[in-house]
Parts: sequence; structure tokens; C-alpha cells
Amino acid sequence: MTVYSKIVGTGSYLPERVVTNRELEKSVDTTDAWIRERTGICERRIAAEDEYTLDLAEKASRRALEAANLDADEIDLIVVATTTADQIFPSTACLLQSRLRIKGCPAFDVQAVCTGFVYALGVADKFIATGAAKKALVVGAETFSRIIDWTDRNTCVLFGDGSGAVILEASDTPGVMSTHLHADGDYADYLHVPQGVSNAHAEVAAGRAYVEMNGSGVFRMAVTTLCRIADETLRHNKIDKQELDWLVPHQANIRIITATAKKLDLPMDRVIVTVDKHGNTSAASIPLALDEGVRSGKIRRGDLLMIEGFGGGFTWGSALIRY
Ligand code: UT7
Repeated sequence: MTVYSKIVGTGSYLPERVVTNRELEKSVDTTDAWIRERTGICERRIAAEDEYTLDLAEKASRRALEAANLDADEIDLIVVATTTADQIFPSTACLLQSRLRIKGCPAFDVQAVCTGFVYALGVADKFIATGAAKKALVVGAETFSRIIDWTDRNTCVLFGDGSGAVILEASDTPGVMSTHLHADGDYADYLHVPQGVSNAHAEVAAGRAYVEMNGSGVFRMAVTTLCRIADETLRHNKIDKQELDWLVPHQANIRIITATAKKLDLPMDRVIVTVDKHGNTSAASIPLALDEGVRSGKIRRGDLLMIEGFGGGFTWGSALIRY
């Protein structure tokens, strides 16, 4: 019998501090009107100085566990998608395991930048489909504000901090119907933080510890690639786009989101949009949007959802989910 993974709980968390476009006008040469028009972003949340990715991940996870009506010790797999781990090691997933007092289960991070949550969901889904796990905690958590140059108007207006989580449970009905994961490392330079660990001393990377982006290059690739992967997902499942109830996209730019929705013939009231309030929270953006869709009562049990994301790497991916 085929085993599927089913989302049985969602949770999310946003730091308290709201930073509006007007506030950014004071520190960089930008305007509220430009940011709204070019990105759809009105405000974003920024973590407090003593608040870290692990704190965000823990809050979203506890809310997802509560929604699933599960105790933490029932979880037998933890996958955290993040680009902004608190430590080089241990992984955020191991630190989260300890916070939640879970013992012994596998716990690891996945790094695929803005596509991180889709990758993490794809990996956890395969653990469940093969019987290696029964109840998985899958998290996207980011403090992107820590890798932003706040004097660079090309990037600082775009990003925010936050976290989202889902609990996946083995089920004999779908659930996650398919996941589609891709990457093309030839585009590494389009969107990157050059400084890492092994090259921190090297002239080419030292001091370049912030996001650098070829915005219009990323934009063009994101639109064409997301439209292509939407097609791939529908074709794979032999379903027509009319059958989709919701698009839950990565929230980078409202113009990218509307282009994908148009391709799917979905009216915008069938698309979960949070980019206006959250900005781009990288790996956290899809589970944040999903939790908002569920808690607002828009997304209901039995609805058919497509999630999709695109980010640094380049990486991109999608999933078709019967909620
Ligand atoms: O999560 C996945 C990764 N990220 C993305 O998907 C982001 C993809 N890219 C984008 O969303 C858009 O390309 C941006 C929002 C980053 C930029 O929008 P754009 O329409 O592609 O603008 P542009 O880069 O072509 O720049 C247009 C102008 C430039 O001025 P000139 O050269 O025309 O005089 C920029 O210098 O806008 C200028 N500009 C700004 N002006 C005011 C760039 N950033 C700002 C700003 N405020 N913050």
C-alpha cells in the first residue's frame, strides 16, 4: 500500500518589530512608492537583537505541534530549512530538537535558500513514503536581516525575518501528491553571499558577508522558471489547472506572484499573498503563507494546493498537496 505524507498541523511566528518602507526612507535612497510599486512590500518584521533563528523556529514548531494536537516527543524526524543558522554547527535542527526535548530522531538542516522549505518538505515526504519516519516536523526559519547590508537599497528593502512549520504524518491517502526539486549552480553569482567559512580569509570573499543580487536577472529567471515548474507539476499529476484551489507561492515580489497566478489562470483571491506584510523571508515564506491561509480559514481540508519557490543557487521547486 502506498504511504503518503499529510499535513496535520501548521504554525508560524513573526518577530514583533515592524519596519515600514517609510522607516527605510530615512536610511537609504528609496521611497515607499518605489518599494510598493516594484515589489508589493509595505512592511517587514525584523528580529530583536537577542532573538535568533532557533527562537523563531521553536515558536513556529510549538504552534504547529499544538495545531496537530501532538506532543513533541511523538516527532521522529526534524528537517529545518534555513540559510541563517545560528551556529556553523550543530545544525539548527539539532538545537531545535533539544529545545523541544525530543530524543534520538534524525535532525538536520537543508540549505536551498528561498526554495529551502520546498526542499525540506520533499525530503521529509520521502522519509515518510519509505517508512523511515511517521511524524515529521518541517520548518523554514530565517533571520535574513543578519545577512543584509542595510546601506544597500538594492537588497535591504526586500527581506524580512520569520518562521513557519508543518507537521507531516503518514497517511494512506494524499497528502503530498508530488514534489519537484531542481537546481542550476551555474547561476550561483546572480544571488549570493560570497563569504563563507573556508574562504573567509580569501581576498575575493572576505568582508562580503551580505546578500549580493542581480535583481533583474533573478526576476526574469524566477518568472520563467516558476511558470515552467507549475506546468511540470500539473502534468506529472495529470490534473488541469482549473482543479487547483490555492497557489501558495514563495513571497519575493508581487509581480512574480501575479505572473505565476496568471499562467495558472488563477484569480488573485485564490493566491495566498503575504509579501506586503512580511517581505521576502526566504525559506520561511511558504510555510508562513500556508499557516496564514489555514488560520484565516481560506485553506480548508480537502483543498488542492500548489506551493512553489525560487531562490539562490539557483534552486527551484514545487509541490502539489491535497490539504
Ligand atoms: O527570493 C528569490 C530571490 N529574489 C527575488 O526573486 C528578487 C527578484 N528581483 C526583483 O524582485 C526585482 O528585480 C527588484 C525588486 C529587486 C528590482 O526591481 P526592478 O524592476 O527589476 O528594478 P531594477 O533592478 O531594474 O532597477 C530599476 C531602477 C534602477 O535605477 P536606474 O539604474 O534605472 O537609474 C535601480 O538603481 O531602480 C533603482 N532601485 C531603486 N530605487 C529606489 C533599485 N532599488 C531601489 C530602491 N529604491 N530600493
